[in-house]
Amino acid sequence: MIISVIGTGYVGLVSGTCFSEMGNSVTCVDKNKEKIRQLNQGIVPIYEPGLEGLIQRNQKNKNLFFSTSIKDSVKHSDIIFIAVGTPTLDNGAADLIQVREVAKEIGRSITKKTLIVNKSTAPVGTCNLIQGIISKELIQRNLSLAFEVISNPEFLKEGDAISDFMKPDRIVIGVDSEDAFQLMKELYSPFFRTRDRFIRMDVKSAEMTKYAANAMLATKISFINEIANICELVGADVNQVRVGVGSDSRIGYNFIYPGIGYGGTCFPKDISALIKLSLKHNYEPKLLASVDEVNEGQKKLFLKKLLSRFGEDLSNFTFGIWGLSFKPETDDMRKSPSIFIVNQLCKRGAKVRVYDPKSMKNAKEKYFSKLDLFYGENKYQIIENIDALILLTEWKEFRSPDFSELKSKMRLPIIFDGRNQYNAFDLNKKDFEYYQIGKNK
Ligand code: UGA
Repeated sequence: MIISVIGTGYVGLVSGTCFSEMGNSVTCVDKNKEKIRQLNQGIVPIYEPGLEGLIQRNQKNKNLFFSTSIKDSVKHSDIIFIAVGTPTLDNGAADLIQVREVAKEIGRSITKKTLIVNKSTAPVGTCNLIQGIISKELIQRNLSLAFEVISNPEFLKEGDAISDFMKPDRIVIGVDSEDAFQLMKELYSPFFRTRDRFIRMDVKSAEMTKYAANAMLATKISFINEIANICELVGADVNQVRVGVGSDSRIGYNFIYPGIGYGGTCFPKDISALIKLSLKHNYEPKLLASVDEVNEGQKKLFLKKLLSRFGEDLSNFTFGIWGLSFKPETDDMRKSPSIFIVNQLCKRGAKVRVYDPKSMKNAKEKYFSKLDLFYGENKYQIIENIDALILLTEWKEFRSPDFSELKSKMRLPIIFDGRNQYNAFDLNKKDFEYYQIGKNK
């Protein structure tokens, strides 16, 4: 099939690349000329395990192309995916400006029967909006072309995006016609070896499914974080509670790890957009608002714990930070709790030394350009003479460090762990002062 994917963010780039891997001819389009110039040279703007190799291979095989022109790309396409950003507006709603612009350009460019698939996470009703914009453009061109706009939300996770796409749990297709459904089945069938996992539904329900899935996952995290906070107060250990609770198969062990709160663009953005959508329809979503509130509070509680150990004035202290990205296996720092923590430490006069395996460039250029930080080349370089080590992202390389090296290099053997990576008993035996989430020392 000939496919266009508009938008080369995480979703667009991964989807386009994986479709090309299955032998389709894919053009990924983006208005950012520099990004497309780099992609055309096989340079990938984001770190996502496995992505660069797949892109380079499919470019070489002439299955994957990059372009800045929607017009040139879509006129030959059987299917057009819209995968542009839907950032949060100041009022919390999703900003659909990019979706609208792309829809307009598609309406001005298509020349044959085309299936338009929205993959951008956008409020219920967005497919209708796209349909309307394209129809209007076609009327102006005096053209009567068959086209359909359907919803196919994406559930990939950063850091695991390729395997999520290649081996999906499910493919949700929100569609009104049998023809469109069959075309999507044809496109996705190569991704299923054992059984198909298509879930067909109406367009609005598919749009809602994406928000509901992310809201449910975010709720699980805020729920366990709230339990963790209560555990600390009553002297229980959330690490044990998590296992006890997860053993109920109705609850499950996955996605109930306590921490300093969820980051990334998806959960914060989607919870906020869903709240806004509900309010627009005169319903006040109390649970979702609390999920967001608990999440915002989590990093503040972590800081409070640190301040109650060192005091409000940190000008005599040096801290080392392990991990800046919002989760491991990505260089993405958007809405990462590290942004808040690092800024707060600096604001109180602390010296801060940081290390992250992949997001140092991002940190330096985009997030901490105004701060005077020490950027280490490896995890041990930043621990020299620090008063406490603060673990913010659970990269594998932080899981079992050489504690005797830590102890010999650090001024004080204190660890603040925002991701509960270590065993408190072991660390106390090694004479570390160890603070974690949901358990008193
Ligand atoms: C999330 C969803 O998991 C995907 O299914 C969805 O497709 C995606 O958003 C999206 O809407 O595009 P992602 O944001 O990449 O994916 O990352 P997650 O692995 O879900 O982690 C999100 C945040 O939750 C991270 O900050 C992570 O540290 C935190 N988290 C996750 C916890 O604090 N505890 C957990 O048990 C799990």
